[in-house]
Order: sequence, then C-alpha cells, then structure tokens
Amino acid sequence: MLRLHSRSEESSRPTSDASPVFARAPGKIILAGEHFVVLGAPAVAMAINLYSKVQVTPKNSSGVDVDADIPLRFLAGKTGNPMAPDPRRLLRPLQLAAEATLKYVGSSDRGLHVNVECEIPVAAGLGSSASTTVAIISAVGRFNRIELTRKEIFKLAFVPENFLHGKPSGVDQAVCIYGGMIQFNRPSDVKTFRPKKEPLILVCDTGIHHATRTLVGGVVQKSQRERKDFQNYMVRVREISNGVAKALRSGDDEDLGTLMYQNHELLRKIGVSHPKLDHLVETARRAGALGAKLTGAGGGGCIIVLSQSTTARDRISRVLRKERGTPYKISMDTSGVAWQPA
Ligand code: MEV
Repeated sequence: MLRLHSRSEESSRPTSDASPVFARAPGKIILAGEHFVVLGAPAVAMAINLYSKVQVTPKNSSGVDVDADIPLRFLAGKTGNPMAPDPRRLLRPLQLAAEATLKYVGSSDRGLHVNVECEIPVAAGLGSSASTTVAIISAVGRFNRIELTRKEIFKLAFVPENFLHGKPSGVDQAVCIYGGMIQFNRPSDVKTFRPKKEPLILVCDTGIHHATRTLVGGVVQKSQRERKDFQNYMVRVREISNGVAKALRSGDDEDLGTLMYQNHELLRKIGVSHPKLDHLVETARRAGALGAKLTGAGGGGCIIVLSQSTTARDRISRVLRKERGTPYKISMDTSGVAWQPA
C-alpha cells in the first residue's frame, strides 16, 4: 500500500457542520466486448467483491484534499515498469470527481477531505479508477445532503474518467454503480440482468500494468486504418456479447467458456493482448478451464478464467501460480455503489 496526499489551494472558510459520510463501490471484470464497446458494440460486465472505500469529512477551509491508500505494488520506481501510472496522476481524477460533484450540487466553495482506501489493484483492468470515483461522487453528494441517482452518478463519473482514459465508453462506471451483471449497449442503454447462477471465475494478474488511455487510443486509430477488418470484428463481437449474456441467463457454462476464448482471440487480433496474457490463457485452457480471456484494456493486467467446479478452479489456480500469475478467487457484488453515515 502507498499513501498519497493531494492538498488543494485553499482560502479560509467557516467550519462545515456536515457529518462524515462513508461510501463504497465494487471493482469489475468485463466478460465480453471491451475495446469494441468504445466503437459501439455491446459489452457484458460483472461487479466483483473488491472495493474502493471512501470517507468524506468536513474541513475548515475551501478546496478538496485527498488522501489515498492504494495497492501500488506495480508502480514505476518499484518495478521500473514504464507503463505504470504516475502516483500524482492517480489522485487528480479523485479530486476532479469531488469537485465536479460539489459544483453539481451547488456547493463549489465548500471544503472537504476525501480519504480513499482501495483494495483493487491499479491499472490491472479491474476498474479501480471507476470504482473509486463513483464512491467519491456518491459520498460527496450525500455529504451535501443530496442523494444522487445512479444516472446522475454515471454522468458525473465521465469527468474523472475522461481525464484518465480519454474517451471511455462508460461501461466501467456503469457496472461499479449498478453492481451485479450488466449488458452495456451505450450510455443511454444499460441493462442489468440476473445470471441463472453465478459463474465460477478466477482472476489472474500478470503483474504487468498498462495505460488504458494509450491502449484505447491505439484501437480507435487502428479501426480507422483497417475499416473492413473492424466491420467484421464488430459483427462478431456483437454475436459474442449477446451470446455471453444469453449463456449467463441460461446458466450454460460451456457456451460461456467457448465465447470467452473467442473474445480473447479477437482482442489478440486487434493488438491489445500481451505474450504473458496469451500464455496464461493457454495455460488455463490446458489445465481444463471452460473459458479464459483478458479482461479490461489488456496490454498486461488480468485474465479471467471460467471453471466448472471449485475443485477445477483450485487446480487451475495452482497451475497459473506456477506460471508466475497471481490468481485470486472473486465473486459477484450485487449492491453496486452504496453510502452510509460514517
Ligand atoms: C476498460 O475497462 C474497458 C475498455 O473497453 C475502455 C472503455 O470501455 O472505456 C477498454
């Protein structure tokens, strides 16, 4: 864990009498459609039981101060990974989330302190930024005695997400807000649905971390250069995403797994995989996984693996660890973003 601080420019203000507010939001995995969702294809995502926890307290001066405990095992300087995020850049979106919310609720000159504890690995494709920012927006709204709707939180989350990722689709913040499973078609068309049973998913981290903005920008440019190929990919991804949602609704793990492998292959074709991701997907396949794919922006980060039983999952997990992945079991979060008095 690394503790980061960011202090605002302040001027003296009267003490706020508001009570502290606590909020938390889940991380996420994408089961189908990442990258292509930015180009207009549907994606399917699931909220997971790793959380960002936020506490908002009053302060005696104007401006937003942020303190954050973030798992930064993979940051530059620790690993020398040039793709690792800069710690200062990590806090700016959190401040932007709080400032945009204060402006929205008409309290721009109010001073507050935001304390963040994030359990979600950063830059690993598990939604750490979306999770943290939606928790902040919810808490700051409530701190001002306003219960923001999910749609309002969704819109406000574009401010920090745009800053961080360039032109995000909105799928990350949507799933962190709603929880459970979603099919994301476009920002105005997000459907939650209940799977027949929860899929047995293992996340496995390559330990190589990425910059979502660069990866997404690269795919958008490639899609403009290789229009014909991308038209075909989009047709295929549409089928895959719709098939994944159908398999989840009917509890058909065989179909779900096959579609996950197919989705990974498409992501590899458009250049967002990484040799270590491909190796872990292949290792999972040989160890008997029903399906496996990279999840999120790729270029490193995590794969997700579907198993048919807990015994199979434990066996696959051991094999992935031997191949230097870091596997961990996750389950579905069903609450989405939630606040309570601190
Ligand atoms: C990142 O979790 C998902 C991407 O599709 C980007 C986006 O949808 O904004 C890669």
